[in-house]
Amino acid sequence: MTTIVFFEPDGTRREVEANPGESLMEVAVRHGVEGVDADCGGVCACATCHGHIDPAFFGRLLAMNDTEDAMLELVEDQRAANSRLLCQIQVGPELDGIVIKLPGVRR
Ligand code: FES
Repeated sequence: MTTIVFFEPDGTRREVEANPGESLMEVAVRHGVEGVDADCGGVCACATCHGHIDPAFFGRLLAMNDTEDAMLELVEDQRAANSRLLCQIQVGPELDGIVIKLPGVRR
C-alpha cells in the first residue's frame, strides 16, 4: 500500500491508502475526498481533478502531455508550477507519502 495525503479545499488533512496502478483521482474519489469531482471519469477532459503536487515529489512524475497542459488552462487562475490533473498520475511505490493540495473545483 502507498499512503497519499490530500489537503481538501477547506484545509482538512486526509491520509488515505492507495493501490498500485490506480490513479490519484481514483484514490481521492474512492475515499470521498472533497475537491475532486472527476466529472469526465478520468479521460483528461474536465480538469475537475486538479491538484497542487508536493514539490518534493513533482519531479518523480512522468511529464504531462499536451492534452493535460491544455486542460489545465481551464483552471488558469488556480494553476501553479506544481499543478497536475490527478487522473493522469498512476500510483506507484515512489509516491508513498506524497502530499497533494486541492484548490477546489471551479464551475
Ligand atoms: S477526471 Fe476529468 S480531467 Fe481528470
